[in-house]
Amino acid sequence: MSKRVLIIGAGGVGNVVVKKCAMLPEIFGTIMLASRTLSKCDKIADEIGGNRVQTAQVDADNVPELVALIKGFKPDLVVNVALPYQDLPIMDACLETGVHYLDTANYEPKDVAKFEYSWQWAYQERFREKGIMALLGCGFDPGVTGVFTAYANKHHFDEMHYLDIVDCNAGDHGKAFATNFNPEINIREITQKGKYYENGQWIEVDALSIHKPIEYPHVGPRESYLLYHEELESLVKNFPSLRRARFWMTFGQQYITHLNVLQNVGMTRIDPVMYKGIAVIPLEFLKAVLPEPSTLGENYTGQTSIGCQIKGVKNGTDRTYFVYNNCHHAECFREVGAQGVAYTTGVPAMIGAALMLTNPEWMHPGVYNVEELNPDPFMDMLNKHGLPWHEQFDIELPHDYK
Ligand SMILES: NC(=O)c1ccc[n+]([C@@H]2O[C@H](COP(=O)([O-])OP(=O)(O)OC[C@H]3O[C@@H](n4cnc5c(N)ncnc54)[C@H](OP(=O)(O)O)[C@@H]3O)[C@@H](O)[C@H]2O)c1
Repeated sequence: MSKRVLIIGAGGVGNVVVKKCAMLPEIFGTIMLASRTLSKCDKIADEIGGNRVQTAQVDADNVPELVALIKGFKPDLVVNVALPYQDLPIMDACLETGVHYLDTANYEPKDVAKFEYSWQWAYQERFREKGIMALLGCGFDPGVTGVFTAYANKHHFDEMHYLDIVDCNAGDHGKAFATNFNPEINIREITQKGKYYENGQWIEVDALSIHKPIEYPHVGPRESYLLYHEELESLVKNFPSLRRARFWMTFGQQYITHLNVLQNVGMTRIDPVMYKGIAVIPLEFLKAVLPEPSTLGENYTGQTSIGCQIKGVKNGTDRTYFVYNNCHHAECFREVGAQGVAYTTGVPAMIGAALMLTNPEWMHPGVYNVEELNPDPFMDMLNKHGLPWHEQFDIELPHDYK
């Protein structure tokens, strides 16, 4: 029986989730897109056409407003692709109305650039008691990177020891400086201290201070920077055999230069600054003058390449394993009018939603990260819905594995 889904957030990722859900009427029979700006919802719904998607205006920071919207539309599942600040109010509204929940980024308080799962994991008992499920971090990274790791663990290792998540955007959008997803969230993530996990401890390093060239399939070597990324927290918890887990992301020199200047002049600050009697948060103002990520797709060339490089043991022998996806920006634009970063996030969100609604293995009351569920049906759907993956075994991994 087809289901009702409410998608919140009509940005770059929301556009992809709605369009991919609309392609599967046998699963997502009735779709509503709600966001802060109604015209953005209407534009996406018009592009899909055929009255396939209903739209609504909502302030997702406001729990009573969300509850009223959910009670009116009666969805089976809420997909949250607004901003991480809205995770807790939307989870509260789902609890109040007894509706399942999915998101792609973990909660962050607005006034501290700090993201961790503790706030959302604290909902575990309440979701379980209510008989509803929350699936956290179901984009690409986090999301597919967790599914890749779970798949490696299930099929290719007796014990995993070293994990490196390698994320390359080898695309060119032609702008001097722009971020591929929400600028505020993106810049907060990159300018905070780097952190990785080794031998049971978290090791903190200065932002962007560790970097080296990494070889990406069909791209070549790209300078990659060690960042803290949220899936590291859940992956080392769920796969305790991991001795080290790190996350690497590529940035071009032009991007780093712009970021340094913006940081040096104070434009990435998240504390209020008084300007002509008005309290202005510099990073929020910066977001207002940067290109919206959803508008970058049109002339975007090149591809993304994201994967997991793992070393461990199988049948008593050391082994290495690399699983990755490459995704072309131009193909994403042709299919759904989006750039690759929005596409690689939105497709897994649709897949997670589809599995929760149709596959009993993917529906358990409580709060889960994607790697806690059976990776096989997810991997199968990635191949069918636009994000095919590839594997390499026993290759020389380019990292300094000990
Ligand atoms: N896991 C991954 O791989 C991954 C990768 C990229 C992004 N993400 C996450 O995906 C989410 C969406 O990113 P994006 O690039 O699509 O961002 P975006 O383009 O800025 O879109 C966010 C949308 O949410 C809406 N919104 C913001 N605050 C709201 C509120 N209080 N009430 C209702 N709607 C609100 C915005 O409305 P307005 O248009 O009116 O501002 C906007 O349409 C973010 O949480 C991001 O961290 C995850």
